[in-house]
Amino acid sequence: MRSVTLLIAVGLALIATNVLAGAGDAKPGISAQALDYGRNISPLESLAGLRPVEAKHAMVVTAQHLATRVGVRILREGGNAIDAAVAIGYALAVVHPCCGNIGGGGFMVIHLANGENRFLDFREKAPLKAYPKLFQNAQGEVVPGLSTHSYLGVGVPGTVMGLNAALTQYGTLPLKTVMAPAIALARKGYILDPGDAHILDGRADDFRKYPNVDAIFLNHGQPWRAGERLRQPQLARTLERIAEGGTHAFYRGRIAKAIVAASAQHRGILSLQDFADYTVRWAKPVECDYRGYTIVSDPPPSSGGTTICEILQIVKPYPLGEWGYASVKTLHYLIEAERHAFADRNTYLGDPAFVHNPIRELLSPAHAAKIRAQIRPDAATPSSEVKGSLGPAEGTNTTQFSVVDAHGNAVSVTYTINYLFGLGQIAGDTGFFLNNEMDDFTSKPGVPNSFGLVQGRVNQIEPGKRPLSSMSPTIVLRHGKLFMVTGSPGGSTIISTTLETILNVIDFGMNMQQAVDAPRFHEQWQPPTVMIEPGLLTPATQRTLEKMGYRFTYGNAWGAAMAILANPKTGLYEGAADRRRPSALAAGY
Ligand code: DON
Repeated sequence: MRSVTLLIAVGLALIATNVLAGAGDAKPGISAQALDYGRNISPLESLAGLRPVEAKHAMVVTAQHLATRVGVRILREGGNAIDAAVAIGYALAVVHPCCGNIGGGGFMVIHLANGENRFLDFREKAPLKAYPKLFQNAQGEVVPGLSTHSYLGVGVPGTVMGLNAALTQYGTLPLKTVMAPAIALARKGYILDPGDAHILDGRADDFRKYPNVDAIFLNHGQPWRAGERLRQPQLARTLERIAEGGTHAFYRGRIAKAIVAASAQHRGILSLQDFADYTVRWAKPVECDYRGYTIVSDPPPSSGGTTICEILQIVKPYPLGEWGYASVKTLHYLIEAERHAFADRNTYLGDPAFVHNPIRELLSPAHAAKIRAQIRPDAATPSSEVKGSLGPAEGTNTTQFSVVDAHGNAVSVTYTINYLFGLGQIAGDTGFFLNNEMDDFTSKPGVPNSFGLVQGRVNQIEPGKRPLSSMSPTIVLRHGKLFMVTGSPGGSTIISTTLETILNVIDFGMNMQQAVDAPRFHEQWQPPTVMIEPGLLTPATQRTLEKMGYRFTYGNAWGAAMAILANPKTGLYEGAADRRRPSALAAGY
C-alpha cells in the first residue's frame, strides 16, 4: 500500500509540475515519464483514501490559501457568501496574480437561500474600434501573436464592475470592508509558497521585457522564490482608489486613463469611451435536469452551461454508474457526446447581445435523441463526419472559487485574464495584469485559437461584443436544495473538467475530493484526438478504445476544480481544492 501511495504522490507531483508549466502560452504536454504513472494500478484504486475537508456551517475553496482564509474570515465575521466571494475576488487579484484579476472578466452563478438562482455576466467586451478581421493581415491570414501578445488582444475589463455589482445587489458589507484584506495583502506583501513561486516562474522571461512588470514580479531581475515576500504597492494604491471611489474610480477615472494611454503607446485601440460604455448584465442561468438533480450554470456569452447541459442530456439514458468510472463504455459514450456538443458549441454560440443562441433546441430531448442515434456502439465517430447539428448557423488564465455560507447561499465564480498573467503587461503604474481575452473570438472561421477551438462566424469580433467563453461556474441542486458548487479554469477543458466533477459524484459515487482529483479526459470535436491524463486508462482500456478508432494525447492546461458538496448523508459540507493547484485550499467552519 505504501508503494502505491508513493506512486500516486509522485504521479500527482509530475502532473502538477507539467500542468503548471503548461498553463498559459507554453504548450508542453505531460512528460513521457509521467505516462508510466498509474500503469499498474486501476484508476479507482488510485483515488482510494482521498478525503475532502469537512465543515458544518460554511465552506470556501479557492486556488490560493490566503484568499481562502480571507473568505472564511468574512463569513465568520457575519458576511454572507456574496460578501465573501467579492472579498475573495479582490484577494485573488493580489495573491494569485496569474489568474485572479481586476484586469479581466468572468461569470458568477448565485443560489440564494430563498431558492432564487442568478447569473452575473462581467465578461470583457471588445473595444469599439474592433472589427471582424482585426487579427488578419492584408492577405486575410491570421497574424500569430496579435490576439495574445499585443494590446489588440485586450478586452475591456469587467471584473471591478462585476464584483461591485454583486456586492451592491446581494452583499451586506461595505466595499471598503470586503476590499480591506486585499489591500493589506498587496501593501504588506505575502510570503510565497512553492506553488506561488512556480507559477510566477512560468512567465519570468516575459516579465523581463517590461520595466514596470520586472520591478514587481521579478526580484532584482531574478524569479521570486518560495519563502520570499511579494509586495505590490502599486496594486495596493489602485485597490484603495477603487475602495474609496467605487466602480467609477476604475471606469471613469485615472485607472481607465492609464490603460488607454498604455494601449495607445503600444498600438492598441482601447478608448475612454470603451470604459464609459462598459456594462455588466444580470440574467437567468441555464438550467437542466440530470437524474433528478438540477444543473444551474452560465448561459452565453459562456458556452459552459449550455455545453455541459447538452452533454448531460445526451448521456442521460446511459447507465454510466453501472458501466463504471473510466470503463470503455463510459468513456466511449461520454467522448462521443462531447464531440457532438463541442461541434454545436463552436457553431452556434456567441454573445446573446449580438447573435441568437439556440439553447432551447440544443437542450431539447429530440436533439439529444438525434445525437444518440449517430453514436455507433463499437466505434469512434471521426470528427470530420460531425457538424453543428442544427444546420447552418444564423448569424491560458483563469481561476475558480466556490463559497457556501451558514444561511445556505452559494456562489460559484470563474474569472480570467485568459493566459497565465494574461497579456503579461501592466498599464503604467496600475499594478495589475491586463487580459488577452480577445483571443477567445474567432480570428478567422476555421482557424483554431489558443485552445485549439475551431469556431465560426457567430463568434466573430464586433465592437462591444463579448467573446465566447468556456468558463462554467456551476451550482447543482437536489430537490431544490444546494448539492454542489463547482467550476474550473483550463480554457476549453473547463467544460469537461466541470462536467466530470459532477458525473464523478452523481454517477460514480465519489466523494468531493476524489471527484476533483480523479484523472480526466477531454474531447472538443477539433482536434479529433482525445486528451487524457495519466492514470485514467488501464493498458487494456486504452487498447480497446484505440481499436475502436480513438487516438489519445496527453494534454496541458488541465482544469483545476474548486468544489463544494453539501453531503445529504452527513449534513456536512465537503470542500475539495484540486491537487493540480498546489497552493489551493479548502477551509470552512
Ligand atoms: O473564457 C475562456 O474560455 C478562456 N479565456 C479561459 C482561459 C483559461 O481558462 C486559461 N486557464 N487555464
